[in-house]
Amino acid sequence: MSITFYEHSKTFRLDTRDSSYLMAISKYGDLLHLYYGDRIPDEDLSYLIELRDRGFSPNPHEAGNDRTFSLDFLPQEFSTSDSGDYRVESIGVRNADGSRIFAGKAAGHTIYSGKYKVPGMPSVRALEGEGTDTLEIRLKDAASGVSVVLYYGVFEEKNVITRAVRVVNEGEGPIRLEKLMSVTLDFKEANYDWITLDGRHMMERHPSRSAIRNGVQSVGSTRGSSSHQHNPFVILCEKTADEDRGRCYGCSFVYSGNFLAEAERDQYRQLRLNMGIHPTNFEFRLEPGEDFFSPEAVLAYSGNGLTGLSHIYHRLYRENLGTSPYRKLPRPVVINSWEAAYFDFDEEKLLNIARESLDMGVELFVLDDGWFGKRDDDCSGLGDWKVNRHKLKGGLSGLSEQIHEMGLKFGLWVEPEMVSEDSDLFREHPDWHLGIKGRPATRGRYQLVLDLSRKDVCDYIIDSLNRILDEARIEYIKWDLNRNITDVWSGQTDKERQGEVMHRYMLGLYRIMDEVILTHPDVLFCGCSGGGGRFDPAMLYYQPQIWCSDNTDAINRLKIQYGTSFVYPISSLEAHVSICPNHQTGRTVSLATRGIVASGGILGYELNSTVLDREEKELCRKQVEAYKENYALIADGDYYRLTSPFENHYVTAWQHVSANRTQALVSLVLTDTEGNDGQLYLKLKGLKKEAFYRINGDEERRYSGAVLMNAGLPIPGTLKQYEGIQFKLQQIMEGTL
Ligand code: GLA
Repeated sequence: MSITFYEHSKTFRLDTRDSSYLMAISKYGDLLHLYYGDRIPDEDLSYLIELRDRGFSPNPHEAGNDRTFSLDFLPQEFSTSDSGDYRVESIGVRNADGSRIFAGKAAGHTIYSGKYKVPGMPSVRALEGEGTDTLEIRLKDAASGVSVVLYYGVFEEKNVITRAVRVVNEGEGPIRLEKLMSVTLDFKEANYDWITLDGRHMMERHPSRSAIRNGVQSVGSTRGSSSHQHNPFVILCEKTADEDRGRCYGCSFVYSGNFLAEAERDQYRQLRLNMGIHPTNFEFRLEPGEDFFSPEAVLAYSGNGLTGLSHIYHRLYRENLGTSPYRKLPRPVVINSWEAAYFDFDEEKLLNIARESLDMGVELFVLDDGWFGKRDDDCSGLGDWKVNRHKLKGGLSGLSEQIHEMGLKFGLWVEPEMVSEDSDLFREHPDWHLGIKGRPATRGRYQLVLDLSRKDVCDYIIDSLNRILDEARIEYIKWDLNRNITDVWSGQTDKERQGEVMHRYMLGLYRIMDEVILTHPDVLFCGCSGGGGRFDPAMLYYQPQIWCSDNTDAINRLKIQYGTSFVYPISSLEAHVSICPNHQTGRTVSLATRGIVASGGILGYELNSTVLDREEKELCRKQVEAYKENYALIADGDYYRLTSPFENHYVTAWQHVSANRTQALVSLVLTDTEGNDGQLYLKLKGLKKEAFYRINGDEERRYSGAVLMNAGLPIPGTLKQYEGIQFKLQQIMEGTL
């Protein structure tokens, strides 16, 4: 059992293989945080609770004339509000009497093996025999009757602690929940940096690192999705931490809607990290007896740098998120019609693209946007999930059959959460979108967002998608979301409950996904939101891979894929080779380099194969062949960022290493060059020091892991700007040095 409670000291201890997490109940019943970090022996840590009479620090009533006890500076597991803790709060609740206070005192706990459940939302699963335990701690505010249950899921071998919170109204009148964080994590000292993944459409998840300063700093999304702008993931790390060294804490949020990650450095240089649903436009009314569950947050600690932290998340999200059999299966190499044809196609054109891609080794043809309703551009048709017979005479099944006859599988694009005003669906149900009565709704990409807080709307989407999946042989669905949400108001919700609509939208979306995706385990679902606008663990629960970005420029992709890799496994990151000059940046990069970069994720193609010449197709075929040969290494191996494209302007390099460290694949791209430059070397990682490796099958030369990791591999001086190269390492024998 990884969870222990010591009655005499009222201390809870949670242990994973390499980390420990401790908390204790104070003499007045408050749940105080003691420690999170490297695994430590069983010792009394009560000395960490420092009591002192400090000016302007209020004392709880129970403390009587003890002026040394104050929640103003004590580290907590779930902060109170309006009772002496002025830091960013874990909960904001308007009680039945109008007060806005929560002063929860420990009121019992339960420890059991297995993982708690988060109803209605995706969460990390415990695998059979994995040894996952749960701790539930109840905090109760006796005066208001509001109770909070804190959930801790301990994944011992995986070095992960998951958190979730449930609020129960045990009082006699209705309460209004205005803020609820899924996790609060207090640190005694705050000399940390924090790393967030930020960006915009076509430039997602660029890491930014800055020192935590006094006061509150935050990132979040109020866009109705986890967003291109900030990812629901943050790292706190020591200032000296780098890829290989230093203490690092990760916090990842399993939710696809609005989120807030806030860090506050207080007057005593202490730090609080909060993560949860963004309180903007969030308000939940709970009648007596009702409860509210927060989404899950996933904490991980690495005492040996950022790579170690990434490895923890990669493994957890590869193995414990969702049930899709594709988590463990090789993913097909797709060719997608979007950049090849956009909206301008008919059956013949698509079949030609598919036929011409056969020589490239492609396995699945994806028909992107434009196949349904009246959809010749992005101004109409969304919501009408019926095939457009002008474009596809034989319907979806006719096209799919012909594609299958060629020996390819068939995939389809959908954007189920949307409606165009020029659509039959809108004409029939003009009130089915999110929109405030009496105000024309704000458009995005000339489309409106369906009101997924409504059951009838969700049922329509479930039926439409299930019908499409029954209508033709479809092995892959790309599920898109091409605008952010505005006008959050539902015609079916009382005016006092409009603050619930945004979260109810997410619950509606997860129900749709439960009923469409989980009932079609044989179909591979790929997430998308204008590229990577909804790249989060909740989406990965349903869709094991996500279209990383609408930006397919190989050089820009180096940065996007680098940032994404801090938390998300390589097997989740769909990357395509597209045509040059690149449609987003106008840059020309060799087909070979485009292949190397796209093979740094789940490889696919997104180009008009009919314009490729024989040599180019042959090169693609070789790329696919090499990629498939290395698939297990790429998708399931340990991933190392060898250089950062943000710090090293010359070389971006990364490495995949097999679990037994007998094989590795090193990839690099020269992003800039100088005339007459000196020799560059690349220091490899994750190899066995004492073993010898051959590189690219060269029989003449062998290198020890120690040499490759300490002296480095020479980068060929003949490489020109934007050229890349891959080295395959194979261990030949163990040796002693
Ligand atoms: C989004 C996606 C693209 C493509 C278009 C179609 O932008 O990210 O890949 O599917 O929609 O409209």
